[in-house]
Amino acid sequence: MIESAAQRIAFLRAEIEKHNYQYYELDAPLIPDTEYDRLFRELQTLEAQHPELAAPDSPTRRVGGKVLAAFQPVRHAVPMLSIRTETDISDQGALAFDARVRKELELGADEAPVEYACELKFDGLAVNLRYERGVLVQAATRGDGETGEDVTQNVRTIHCIPLRLAGCDTPVLEVRGEVYMRRDDFERYNEKQRAQGLPALVNPRNGAAGSIRQLDPVLAARRPLSFFAYGLGEAQGWASPPAHSAVLDALAKMGMPVSGERAVARGAEGLVEFHRRIAAMRDSLPFDIDGVVYKVNSLTLQARMGFVSREPRWAVAHKYPAEEQITVVRDIDIQVGRTGKLTPVAKLTPVFVGGTTVSNATLHNEDETRRKDVRTGDTVIVRRAGDVIPEVVGVVLGQRPADAGEPFDLRKRLGGKCPVCGSAIVREEGEADWRCSGGLFCPAQRRQALLHFASRRAMDIEGLGDKLVEQLVEQKLVQTPADLYRLDWATLANLDRMGEKSAGNLLEAIARSRKTTLARFIYALGIRNVGEATAKDMARHFATLDNCMAADGERLQQVPDIGPVVAQSIVAFFAEPHNREVIAHLRKAGVYWPEHEEDAVRALPLKGKIFVLTGTLSGMGRDEAKARLEALGARVSGSVSKKTDGVVAGAEAGSKLEKAKDLGVPVLDETQFLNLLGEHEE
Ligand code: IVH
Repeated sequence: MIESAAQRIAFLRAEIEKHNYQYYELDAPLIPDTEYDRLFRELQTLEAQHPELAAPDSPTRRVGGKVLAAFQPVRHAVPMLSIRTETDISDQGALAFDARVRKELELGADEAPVEYACELKFDGLAVNLRYERGVLVQAATRGDGETGEDVTQNVRTIHCIPLRLAGCDTPVLEVRGEVYMRRDDFERYNEKQRAQGLPALVNPRNGAAGSIRQLDPVLAARRPLSFFAYGLGEAQGWASPPAHSAVLDALAKMGMPVSGERAVARGAEGLVEFHRRIAAMRDSLPFDIDGVVYKVNSLTLQARMGFVSREPRWAVAHKYPAEEQITVVRDIDIQVGRTGKLTPVAKLTPVFVGGTTVSNATLHNEDETRRKDVRTGDTVIVRRAGDVIPEVVGVVLGQRPADAGEPFDLRKRLGGKCPVCGSAIVREEGEADWRCSGGLFCPAQRRQALLHFASRRAMDIEGLGDKLVEQLVEQKLVQTPADLYRLDWATLANLDRMGEKSAGNLLEAIARSRKTTLARFIYALGIRNVGEATAKDMARHFATLDNCMAADGERLQQVPDIGPVVAQSIVAFFAEPHNREVIAHLRKAGVYWPEHEEDAVRALPLKGKIFVLTGTLSGMGRDEAKARLEALGARVSGSVSKKTDGVVAGAEAGSKLEKAKDLGVPVLDETQFLNLLGEHEE
């Protein structure tokens, strides 16, 4: 049978809508994008060849509208009302509404609780979708409630809005709801914009409102919008269910997106419970809400209650604390974090936002501050959502005073020096953050530096933990790691939670740590981007600390695995006089290691051999196995190649063992491995 064009078109439309649903609604595509594109183009071609078969609900109609000069006005068949807002954000707000409803309906205290439909109050833009015989024919904004704007072209690009209602050919059905932008879509869109140097959206709500009122439908289509239905406008020939909640159920059945977070509640208690339940999950919702909405559920009762000045008496919005507010930037401070990261922070005229008073908000880093062009004196939008630290999301440019500050320049502001310790500040290539380079010296980084210095893989000072470091720093007993070697028994024994015995143990551990290796010492310095492996490579390559400190970027890059970024961190660290001073103090305090390690390594029995560990050994952990091999001069690598001299395979060894067999690399089981160690260790 030869398929007619009409049949093929019908098939393609249904197929494409099915895949749209799978992709946009279920997030579970059934076919690859290329196959989808092929179906779409075939439909476009066929429709172009057969203009008589055009249809307003064809998926091709979602894209490719014309750029408009202006939106046409649309007079709403039924006015779009707004809702009274309950500003008392406590439970009282819900109690007051229920009391008003009961009074209005003249219900006595002993009469049954009123049934309410409880919904989220979405933070976007209200639209009216007009379906005739089940087909979307027009979409309009709310406007002044009487007359809105025709935004049909843009609304068609919203993939979750059905162009045809499933199983509904009612002459007229107007669906009302909110166009919004999901938070993840908002972030992704902004990331893309920034990557292209284009302006970012301030918040999801502006994103949604701005896109719908975008005259170029191609630009509108690029903005990822979503929609939730929450009510009806005009309905002709529709047998409405008797309750609001059932109306939404019916819309959901027709393929309309309706939020799952809704409930039918009884009485004031039910409202309070809903308000609290949603408050607890507000931050984990994938989109912004600014409150909840309560509606008397029975449509008969709604009709009986009627309206006051454009607001129905049967509905109320019960708010949550606003997560965004407007305030003024008094100054821009720069804070030094525990790792030396420099963060610009806006000092604000205090403002109540997200449930607390906020007077500082992060600007993240220099690039962000410049992108948003935040200056002293600016009026800004501050956001605090949940437990996230408050941030400046944007500037209200129209309110910039004539005497506003200069464009932000972090280095200039600080004169190139850390505001805490005066060390040079550096910004690595490709990094957004400026940092203080005085890692060993800077008071802001002291705790972190000491903990790292004492850690097991660094100087291995057992017993020098968090709490102790805190006390030593707090009481100014220790300023740099070199001060550790000057501590005495009486001082330590007097500290909180320290006895004579632990003080003795700690002193011993500190004393023991004096004898170390060059690799451990380099690692202990806490140079940015220098981990254990790099420290070992450096020690092996340069043999002495003086060589390391004297090496320039070029020489550093001759070390395997050191690239330009790591080299730059090392150069900046040793260039900072404060750091050199601490190193000199450490050596004076008696910290030492065999200097000509290269010679020492040369004499080792497994020098130059490369081993790979895989699977689990029953008698020792992987760290120990690695350390013992390295102590004999071997290198331990993460992957098997032709250069590998041996693979140590424990239980449940996987692909590395396979690869060793493939390449003919010798494999040692646990016994053979222990024998190998035994042969060489004294
Ligand atoms: S019902 C007759 N339900 O809030 C009541 N509105 O002033 C008509 N909104 O801009 C509105 N979520 O777009 C209703 N679940 C919800 C809502 C909701 C958000 C918006 C609506 C309008 C404003 C009401």
